[in-house]
Amino acid sequence: MKMVVAYIRHEAFEPIRMELLGLGFPSLSITEVKGSGRQKGITEHYRGAEITNYLRPKVKIECVVETKDVPAIVDTILRHARTGSIGDGKVFVLPVEEAYRIRTGESGEETLQAHPDTSNAPA
Ligand SMILES: Nc1ncnc2c1ncn2[C@@H]1O[C@H](COP(=O)(O)OP(=O)(O)OP(=O)(O)O)[C@@H](O)[C@H]1O
Ligand SMILES: [Mg+2]
Repeated sequence: MKMVVAYIRHEAFEPIRMELLGLGFPSLSITEVKGSGRQKGITEHYRGAEITNYLRPKVKIECVVETKDVPAIVDTILRHARTGSIGDGKVFVLPVEEAYRIRTGESGEETLQAHPDTSNAPA
């Protein structure tokens, strides 16, 4: 199992979510975060004052999947998140030791992603 962690622009999230849903990966978490990349800061002028923003708002996606599914997830994120401009974001792939579905006590890969009977149930 792996966790795909991506820091992306806000506007990239919805197309990524839609495509992942269509591919059978409805289960993910997002957080609104602030971060910096290698440019460190962006300097803007506001009412005569020079203001440097060191942190930019991003959406963080966390998606735990079977290892075999990582390329499909990463490909989806890369295609929708890339504009070609600086600040498009980053994708990281982390190992996951174990997973448990709390409701049933199941563990392992069967706890991940789509279940045929719950496609329209609340999260
Ligand atoms: N090494 C990192 N560790 C954790 N988060 C990171 C890392 N690099 C980037 N991020 C997150 O990703 C966001 C976007 O990074 P960004 O796209 O600016 O990366 P970059 O390496 O500067 O590439 P680019 O030159 O295309 O801007 C950052 O604001 C931060 O939230
Ligand atoms: Mg950057």
